[in-house]
Amino acid sequence: MTLVPQIDGERLLGRLDAFARIGATPAGGVNRQALSVEDRSARRLLAELALKRGFGVFQDGMANLFIRREGVDAALPPLLIGSHLDSQPTGGRFDGALGTLSAFEALEALEDARVETAMPIEVVAWTNEEGSRFAPGVMGSMAFTGADTAAWKSTVASDGASLASELEATIAALPEATPRPIGVPISGYIELHIEQGPSLEKEQIPIGVVTAVQGTRWLEISIQGAAGHAGTTGLAYRKDPMVAAVAAMHSLQATIMPLDTSARLTVGRIAAQPGSINAIPQSVTFTVDLRHPRSERLDDIEAELRRVCAAEAAAQHCTATIRRSFDMPGAAFSPQMIDIVEAAATSLRLPHKQMISGAFHDALFIARVAPAAMIFVPCRDGLSHNEAEYVEPADAITGARVLLQAAIMAASSRDLLQR
Ligand code: GLV
Ligand code: MN
Ligand code: MN
Repeated sequence: MTLVPQIDGERLLGRLDAFARIGATPAGGVNRQALSVEDRSARRLLAELALKRGFGVFQDGMANLFIRREGVDAALPPLLIGSHLDSQPTGGRFDGALGTLSAFEALEALEDARVETAMPIEVVAWTNEEGSRFAPGVMGSMAFTGADTAAWKSTVASDGASLASELEATIAALPEATPRPIGVPISGYIELHIEQGPSLEKEQIPIGVVTAVQGTRWLEISIQGAAGHAGTTGLAYRKDPMVAAVAAMHSLQATIMPLDTSARLTVGRIAAQPGSINAIPQSVTFTVDLRHPRSERLDDIEAELRRVCAAEAAAQHCTATIRRSFDMPGAAFSPQMIDIVEAAATSLRLPHKQMISGAFHDALFIARVAPAAMIFVPCRDGLSHNEAEYVEPADAITGARVLLQAAIMAASSRDLLQR
C-alpha cells in the first residue's frame, strides 16, 4: 500500500526549535553567521539527522551542503529544495531555517510514506546567504552557478577571520560529508521562505507564489578628509568627512524613497577612522543597500548617489570614492516552476497570490541554471532581520505542505524531465 506523504507538523516545529537553540540570542533570535562555529553546529545537526535516515550527505568546495534521497532514476539531475542556515548577527529563527528544515521535513515525509520520485531530491543548505559576516551574500549559490570565487578568498570579516580559513574549517568540520564538485547539473529548485514583508499577513493569504526577485546593489562610500584636533580646529580649517557623510545620507534619505515608493535605500554600517572622540575623522565610510524592481532605476539612483556624495564631500573640502561591492540584477522565475507551485497550492485548496520578493535569495542565482521558484509564508508584522521575527506555527506547516506537494509534482514533471 502506498501512503500519502504528510508533513509531520510537530516534528517540523521541534526541529525549528532545536536549530533556534544553535546561536540563540537572549532576545529570542539567533546569531549564526556564515561559517561561524554556530553555523558549523547547525550543519552538523542537519547532517546527523540525514545520516540517521539513511540519506546521502555531500558537501562542495563552497561548503554548500546537500542531503540526497535517491529517485527511481539515479542518473537524472536532482530536484533541489532548500534555503540557508546562516543568519544575520541579530537575526530571526525562521529566515533561512524555515526553508531548509521544511525541505528536510519534506524528504522525511517521502521516506516515511516510501514514495518513490522519478528524480532524486536533494535538500540544500547554501553557504553565506546573508553576507553580513562576509560580503557579498548568496556566495554559495553564486559559486554554484559559476561565479568566480577567487576574489572572495581574501575577504576578511569584521571579527578578523578570513573567508578562506573559515571555509576550510567549516568543510573540515564535517568529514562525514562526501566531497563533490561545485555546480553539478540540477533539474530545478524550489525554496520556501518567510515573506520578510507585511503583505501576506495584511491580506490574510497563507501562500505567496513568488514570480520574481527585485535587484540589489551594495555600495561602499568612503569620504576622505583631514584628521584634526576637535578642540582647536575652527570651522574654516576643517575638512570633516563626518559632516559630508551625514549631509549625503540626509539628502539621499530625504529624496530617493519619498520620491519613488518602489525604491529601497538603507545605510546599515558606518565607521569613522580613527574613531576617536576628540579627533575630526580622517575618513568616514558607510554602506548603502539599494533595491528596485527595475534595473534602469537602480542605475539612475546609483548615479544620483554618486553625484550627491561627490557634491557633499566637495562642500567640506573632502573627496568621495564609491565602490560597488555587489550587483545582483533582479530576475523573473521560470513560468514552469511558478505553475508547479501554484498548482501545489491549488491542490491543497490554499488561497495564494503571486508576488515579487523584496529580499534577495539563493533562488535568484539558481534561476540562471535551472527552473526555479519560491513559496512565501506570512511573518508577524512583516518583521525580519530582527530577533523578534515570528511565524505562526500553522503558517510554517502550511508552507512545508506546499513545498512537499510542489516537490512531488516537480520531481515527476514531464517538462522538467525533458529539459
Ligand atoms: C537577504 O538577506 C536580503 O538582504 O535580501
Ligand atoms: Mn533568507
Ligand atoms: Mn536574511
